[in-house]
Amino acid sequence: KRAEIFINQHYQIATVDRRIFGSFIEHLGRAVYGGIYQKGNPNSDEHGFRKDTLNLVRELRVPIVRYPGGNFVSGFSWEDSVGPKDRRPAKIDLAWQAIETNQFGLNEFTEWSDKAGCDIMMAVNLGTKGPQDAKNLLEYCNFVGGTDYSDLRRAHGYAKPHDIKLWCLGNEMDGSWQIGHKTAREYGRLASNTAQIMKSLDQTIETVVCGSSGLTMPTFGEWEYQVLDECYDEVDYISLHLYLANRNNDTTDFLAGSQCMDDYISGVASICDAVKAKKHRKKEIELSFDEWNVWYHSEEQDEQIRPWSEAPHQLEDVYNFEDALLVGSMLITLLRHADRVKIACLAQLVNAIAPIMTSDTRAWRQTIFYPYLHASTYGRGTVLLTQTNAPRYESRTYGTVSVLDSVCIWDQAAQSLTIFAVNKDLNDDVEITCDLRQFCGYRVKEHLVLACNDMKAINTETAPNTVRPIRSHASRVEESVLRGILGKHSWNVIRLE
Ligand code: AHR
Repeated sequence: KRAEIFINQHYQIATVDRRIFGSFIEHLGRAVYGGIYQKGNPNSDEHGFRKDTLNLVRELRVPIVRYPGGNFVSGFSWEDSVGPKDRRPAKIDLAWQAIETNQFGLNEFTEWSDKAGCDIMMAVNLGTKGPQDAKNLLEYCNFVGGTDYSDLRRAHGYAKPHDIKLWCLGNEMDGSWQIGHKTAREYGRLASNTAQIMKSLDQTIETVVCGSSGLTMPTFGEWEYQVLDECYDEVDYISLHLYLANRNNDTTDFLAGSQCMDDYISGVASICDAVKAKKHRKKEIELSFDEWNVWYHSEEQDEQIRPWSEAPHQLEDVYNFEDALLVGSMLITLLRHADRVKIACLAQLVNAIAPIMTSDTRAWRQTIFYPYLHASTYGRGTVLLTQTNAPRYESRTYGTVSVLDSVCIWDQAAQSLTIFAVNKDLNDDVEITCDLRQFCGYRVKEHLVLACNDMKAINTETAPNTVRPIRSHASRVEESVLRGILGKHSWNVIRLE
């Protein structure tokens, strides 16, 4: 099969906001305990932070991590997680039916983030708590000193404010499963009040209001409109969440799933703009895709979990090769919308639906680690409007889609161009061409490929390298035209300089 990719230096979508490569750590399963923190483990440092995990997080260059939930945050009392560890209470986590020991909390997370090189995207509890508690938490984190909560932080050994700039106003408040879930109007008012109070304490922060928990929510659309109608002036971003699955073992259909991410982004952007127009505002609401991934492998196993245990093996999806392809396509989709999507968090980072897995003895890279690594490493720059002319196919769920997902990122200062591309065709290679006359002198520096004959191949503790990228020699520039072969069902990174 053949396809053409068209780019033009002057047709630019936006500069990539590095926060688009963010991730997420929730107090859930072994994400924290046994994932990033394990006191006494030989792989842990003096603070109990797992060094092997930290190394992999640094390798991913994760710019920002959302914390501490997720569903967990809607029942969380942050005060339980600070101060001397021997005085912290163990609490019931109603969201995940587990016991939270609070031995790792807010201050430990700020230390961990420093070591990992990440900023923090902090969520406040708008399930069982409200504006006052959100203000207290912000005061504890960001106020310099001389007040109740800022002095409490200082007494806990943190003289310098944490200075957290990005705040989520609750989590998935449209979901019936959410502790304290609300109607759109109720939540919109609450979000407005909370953001207003928080911003009057610290004018430098930005806030993210909860959009729908997914495109298939019955209130989707109405929810975004009504929520923004209530809080448009007080918030900066609206969230989107999406988890995809291959429950019918229909890989062709599964790989088409990035189409619904694309539709979802366009739909939410339109709703934001409808509210903007109605209110005659100049300000634009940007999008925070702060939970996205594949999630379904662990569903059956999770039904066996004994309630009220500590750090159970929960949501431990073992990702296969086809999941990595879809994650690659989802990353391409996010990048193609870089004009509107400013934040995105792969959910999550360690052990629970994550690119990194740990045992008591080691940490390893799941299949989905690689597209995330490549996008985060090479996907910074200006997104060029990337048009393709490629064969299309009819998918069962998502309509007609292209076999080729692709996006080009140009770093003008570094004189480099990166093409990310997924060939979704299960049977045929795709031969691509791309006119590079505007990129005079650019040559292929590297063509990385993630490919595997077995769509269900996985990486495990004992076989951690079953799926990993290799260098390909299947692309070259000839007379200012890039010619390359994208192998059947493959993720490709073509780097030109
Ligand atoms: O990421 C796992 C869960 O998925 C989060 O806690 C919740 O926000 C979503 O439903």
